[in-house]
Amino acid sequence: MDDKVTAVLEAYHARMADERRGVFPDDGPGQGGPDRDRDRYLLPVGPESGQLINILARSLKAPNILEIGTSYGYSGIWLAEAARASGGQVTTLELQDYKIAYAREMAGKAGLADHIRFIQGDALASIAALPAGIDFVLLDLWKDLYIPCLEAFLPKLNPGAIIVADNIIYPGGDDVRLYSKAVRAKPGMTSILVPVGAGLEISRYEPA
Ligand SMILES: C[S@@+](CC[C@H](N)C(=O)[O-])C[C@H]1O[C@@H](n2cnc3c(N)ncnc32)[C@H](O)[C@@H]1O
Repeated sequence: MDDKVTAVLEAYHARMADERRGVFPDDGPGQGGPDRDRDRYLLPVGPESGQLINILARSLKAPNILEIGTSYGYSGIWLAEAARASGGQVTTLELQDYKIAYAREMAGKAGLADHIRFIQGDALASIAALPAGIDFVLLDLWKDLYIPCLEAFLPKLNPGAIIVADNIIYPGGDDVRLYSKAVRAKPGMTSILVPVGAGLEISRYEPA
């Protein structure tokens, strides 16, 4: 990690600490608190999972990385840094334009703007429009879409592709439990639940 990337990650970590205290960037006095709409939160994978996806993506050769669920761009920094180091590229998908604007600005501050492409819109439509040839997927949007997204990107994976799905242990629940079951049932897939961060299902695709 160079100094610019480290500084941007530290800025996100400071915002995470603020959120835990109910403080948000555009808050006036007394406007924070636990009843915030979830779109105001970073909802980040966190530093341990960030480090792990960075290590995994860096180990691939010039990977075509797909992030499904940009939010405010925290995990995208870890992935774009890996893309720069390995000669790859990140495409990241997000519904909300204001989250993309923030994420784009942070990627610029980190010196990573050339390594990450933002696509605004519904993830399923965006995946359908992508060409085949995906080497790494971070799956981290609303959990009821994990299986529909899996079905959409599966035909576009390269042999040896890695899929990382977040929040399997926390908050967990039926949607992610069914996702783990579904991904493990795919021919050519090997998969394991790794208790890092909020719990990552890490899968590797090697079709016969
Ligand atoms: C858990 S957050 C992603 C966190 C991010 N990966 C990180 O670690 O910084 C999930 C994001 O998925 C987005 N999202 C939810 N449904 C979506 C959809 N159908 N298409 C695109 N993005 C969606 C939400 O707006 C939210 O920002």
